[in-house]
Amino acid sequence: MKKEPESKPRAVFATRFGAIAAIVGSSVGLGNIWRFPYEAGMHGGGAFLICYIICVALLGIPVMCAEFAMGRGTRRNIFGAYKKLCPGGKWQLSGYLGILASFLIISFYSVVAGWTIEFCVQSALGTLEFNGAESNHEQFLELITGWRSVVWTIIFLAINFGVLTGGVTKGIERMANVMMPLLFLLLIAFCVNSFFMPGFEDGISFLFKPDFSKLTPSVMLGALGQAFFSLSLGLGGMMTYASYFKEDTHLARTAASSALLDTSVALLAGIIIFPAVFSFGLSPQAGPALVFEVLPHVFSQLPGGMLWSTLFFLLLFLASITSTVSMSEISISYFCDEKKLTRGKATALSAAIALTGGIICALSFGPLSSATLFGMTAFDLFDYAASNILLPVGGFICAIFVGWKLDRKFLAGQMTNHGHHRFPLLGILRFCLRYVAPAAILLIFLNSLGFL
Ligand code: TRP
Repeated sequence: MKKEPESKPRAVFATRFGAIAAIVGSSVGLGNIWRFPYEAGMHGGGAFLICYIICVALLGIPVMCAEFAMGRGTRRNIFGAYKKLCPGGKWQLSGYLGILASFLIISFYSVVAGWTIEFCVQSALGTLEFNGAESNHEQFLELITGWRSVVWTIIFLAINFGVLTGGVTKGIERMANVMMPLLFLLLIAFCVNSFFMPGFEDGISFLFKPDFSKLTPSVMLGALGQAFFSLSLGLGGMMTYASYFKEDTHLARTAASSALLDTSVALLAGIIIFPAVFSFGLSPQAGPALVFEVLPHVFSQLPGGMLWSTLFFLLLFLASITSTVSMSEISISYFCDEKKLTRGKATALSAAIALTGGIICALSFGPLSSATLFGMTAFDLFDYAASNILLPVGGFICAIFVGWKLDRKFLAGQMTNHGHHRFPLLGILRFCLRYVAPAAILLIFLNSLGFL
């Protein structure tokens, strides 16, 4: 067999903790702390949460295992992985979807990450106002419609691509190892604080008591999209990261623990946000503004509020960086491996595309707010198209590919590290990939399009 030229040995994550920390770093981000509460708030709380948890367990974890298996089994990016496993097939075309989705996501994501920098800086300077619902709303509106948001977006992307030029193992791993545990601790502290708020009970019952009359097709689609978004699935992000795994990384365990941690962070965020929403008489349906308008209230009640606020937004910013780094890695590794660009050029090209998208999304709250398609601004459209359509489609293709097209032996080999340990759940995993995940995704799609 002809040997493919390998340019350099592929980098691997140095330690097992490093691999998990990087996966968790990728999955824990604005998706958990900003997007989850606002989606849950808009889609009726408890009903959304139930769908979300079902999606994570039955679709998310299996698809994550499938991505891991493909990534580590081939040591390629999404495009190369499909090509290597099925030469001449059309499967690799889904790599293009992944790359498109990664650029759409990074565009709106870096705008929100830019807001976190603004809030961090303003809290540190003591200029963040905490005067009440009206003024928090005004303050937030002023930020997102003004030029500062564009500047922060650009700064965020500059930092992101700066980190990326540092390489895989060093830059990403080191940061994730320290920051993620710290973020987790801080969230727990704020949760304890929630407990003492007057709206605690209302907030908790909003989040945890399902009102099944609210269970509409769009709630299900929202939960499906959120699950894929939060777990970084469907566009080959996990595949790319798994291509840096060592041969003895336990794939199923890594997938399950990452999903558990990711979901806990989302729940913690919910437990922080909703009691505050009800305590301060705000609406859970504020949309993307929710977290940014509610949290200043929470911090203002705490002794040393500015300090908490600075620390929180700093950590949220870092959580966003570890996520966008993984998103950017998808296109960078594609340009490097498939287009044979040097890493520097690949990074510059990705940065240029992300910058264009980011600026468009940042402007979509101000000068471009009237430029809409299907009633959505660029920001909303990019989010909807990527999260609710492209990610589930990417996950669907991956599940079908690993479940039906690949030999059972491939999956078995990866899940057991070539027989080094047992994996009794292989049958269930395959069943989920062959039937449950594809059928559920299809049903949710048809349902939300009004065909069922
Ligand atoms: N999961 C991340 C979050 O919750 C976002 C993210 C990072 C992502 N990489 C991804 C989403 C790849 C989809 C695909 O913030």
